[in-house]
Amino acid sequence: MTGEDGHWIWDPALDTGIAEIDAQHRRIVDYINELGDAIGAGDGAAIAATLHDLVDYTLTHFSFEERLMARARYPAFEEHRALHEHFQQEVRDWRERFQRGEDVAAEVRAELRTWLLRHIQVEDHKYAPWVRASLEQGQIEKGWLAKTLDRLFGEGA
Ligand SMILES: [Fe+2]
Repeated sequence: MTGEDGHWIWDPALDTGIAEIDAQHRRIVDYINELGDAIGAGDGAAIAATLHDLVDYTLTHFSFEERLMARARYPAFEEHRALHEHFQQEVRDWRERFQRGEDVAAEVRAELRTWLLRHIQVEDHKYAPWVRASLEQGQIEKGWLAKTLDRLFGEGA
């Protein structure tokens, strides 16, 4: 859903029921909206900073997701990881173009949104029941979860 200000409004139907994952997805949406604001304002410094944070956070989120799936022994883990890796290649291309001085912000914002929406709807919803069951059954321990979040996201987790 898109608000009048062009912001992406999170649809609760996209929730996976895994609190940490849902919080991270919402945070990515916030970054995408911030990037939209920076583009709208034509603020080059804000665009560069937000783009950096958005990409950085999204890649860290992928790592977290992959660790969760591995821990839950999700059978289609390799397929899911391959999708992340493929997307990471695109991100690296954007980064290179950005560093060469190309104006990629609007493209990144639009494509990340489209990709993410589809990825969450289809792929993340496939692993969600496995991870939820592993959390419920204690196969993924709270201590491990806290340590992993801290290691990847640090204070901002
Ligand atoms: Fe994913």
